[in-house]
Amino acid sequence: MAVLVAGVGYIGAKLVEDLLARGEKVVAIDNFFSTSRRAIERFCQHERFTFIKGNITDSRALSSAFSVAPISTVYALAAQASAHPAAATPRYTENTNLIGHRLLLDASKAAGAKTIAFASSFKVYGANLPPVVDESLPYGQFADLSHLSKCYAEKLLELYATTHGMRCLALRLGIVYGMGPVMKRDYRFITAPNKFCLQAVRGEQIELNPGANAPTGFIHVSDASRAMIDAVDEPLFAGYTPINAVTEVASVREVATMVATEAKKKGLPDVIIKLYGIAEPSSSGQGEQTKSVAPRPRVISSLGAPGERPRRTLWESLAEVLDYFKEAGGKD
Ligand SMILES: NC(=O)c1ccc[n+]([C@@H]2O[C@H](COP(=O)([O-])OP(=O)(O)OC[C@H]3O[C@@H](n4cnc5c(N)ncnc54)[C@H](O)[C@@H]3O)[C@@H](O)[C@H]2O)c1
Repeated sequence: MAVLVAGVGYIGAKLVEDLLARGEKVVAIDNFFSTSRRAIERFCQHERFTFIKGNITDSRALSSAFSVAPISTVYALAAQASAHPAAATPRYTENTNLIGHRLLLDASKAAGAKTIAFASSFKVYGANLPPVVDESLPYGQFADLSHLSKCYAEKLLELYATTHGMRCLALRLGIVYGMGPVMKRDYRFITAPNKFCLQAVRGEQIELNPGANAPTGFIHVSDASRAMIDAVDEPLFAGYTPINAVTEVASVREVATMVATEAKKKGLPDVIIKLYGIAEPSSSGQGEQTKSVAPRPRVISSLGAPGERPRRTLWESLAEVLDYFKEAGGKD
């Protein structure tokens, strides 16, 4: 039996690396929409890795992927994942994230794959989080099509679990960060914490909008990959199961400040953080917006309590990403 990884991008490449390391036979599919062929070449020499260049909206490409070997588990990470307005047309986002996911589920069902692990997002809860966030919290408000499409895909998983008896797991990943086998540099497709590191190395200012003050969930790319594999391995997860996958809660503004602090320690030029629509703290330290910063919510996950396994932290990992971009050079 083999596993199928749809989408060998920033997170998918780490997952492929980890699955190969645990001895799995891996089939992968990607259309190189936001990841270059070069990034995937490292795996192509591996004897247990087969790559199909193809679009998940193309049933024939999916059939080719499923005909390589019997597939037990599908890791669904192929998506137009970006909220950046210049990342893709709305039609591309809808085709991939709505139709593509349905076709992937149909192909999985036809091939007899038992488990689907879908890379959903912690953003399904919206921007204003209550004091406790567990998986029973209803969907919140959305600001872009990519994140909105996660609701459709999750409900699709629920439909296929109830109608076809498939095991459908939706990993609600926080903002993913840190060093992985595929490191993006295109600002349309790079994750915010890594982008701040690249900007610091390039001597650019970091621009933040008012939403940057809201606490949200983060997870290191290694922990995200591990959470997906652990969820698949967990026999208690049956039918449709949404699972929070967040290891730290912070605001994007705090992450930008961490990057600025680490950059200074590494002798990089001072990082200027430009805050659009966010009042700076007054001399008393209580600026208008600072006062209204929401308290840090507690995230509960059916995958286990924090502290049960070693996890990477933002502080240590951002320092590594800064070192990487510094050594590799800030230019593309
Ligand atoms: N990076 C994050 O912070 C984060 C957080 C939560 C959830 N997620 C989700 O995890 C998944 C992977 O995210 P990522 O950060 O690795 O993004 P990514 O853009 O690096 O990876 C997505 C991959 O899908 C491929 N792809 C796009 N359209 C395709 C299509 N039609 N057919 C085949 N392949 C296609 C891209 O080329 C890319 O390699 C996405 O669903 C994303 O929404 C990411």
